[in-house]
Amino acid sequence: MNMVRVKRVVLALIVLLVFAQLVQPKRTNPPVVPSRSLEAHVQVPPQVQFILKRACGDCHSSETVWPWYSHVAPISWLITSDVNQGRNHINFQDWEAQKSPEAATEHLALICKEVRDGGMPPLSYRMMHKESRLSSEDMNAVCSWSQSFGRPSESAGQGN
Ligand code: HEC
Repeated sequence: MNMVRVKRVVLALIVLLVFAQLVQPKRTNPPVVPSRSLEAHVQVPPQVQFILKRACGDCHSSETVWPWYSHVAPISWLITSDVNQGRNHINFQDWEAQKSPEAATEHLALICKEVRDGGMPPLSYRMMHKESRLSSEDMNAVCSWSQSFGRPSESAGQGN
């Protein structure tokens, strides 16, 4: 490629990025109703509450802290999609949104596996948020609580 072409490609990319900013996804924080929260329905030790808030709260609560880069396309599209999907699966502040008590228990039982396998919080999130990395002590606390809801069944985590 000659320099003129390189310049054209770079210019086209810049123009594309500028126009991408026009597509701003909605960054919502739904109202918090304390009586609908996880804690209002299930016993959660304070230590675990603290960990879930610290490491999971941005995607599984209604009080997402939106970082500055969540306003910059195309990253903003990925982040809002993660938050919306995360909340759809589990919102610790809207536990009543769970499909059924069985589904809710299943999700709680699944937490240990997700955390131990490094699936949650997602790697990209852990890279940007040091405070979301769990120590082995954190994991043990989360796991012994999560496993008190049983072991996740084989079908858990699929298509749901
Ligand atoms: C960056 C956003 C983000 C963070 C932070 C995050 N999650 Fe998630 N979580 C998601 C998304 C997106 C999904 C749904 C897609 C998937 O299964 O990968 C999900 C799904 C889940 C599920 C359901 C899995 C299933 O298959 O039904 C569990 C359980 C879960 N997360 C637990 C946690 C826990 C516990 C933490 C904190 C230790 C956490 N997540 C932190 C985004 C996040």
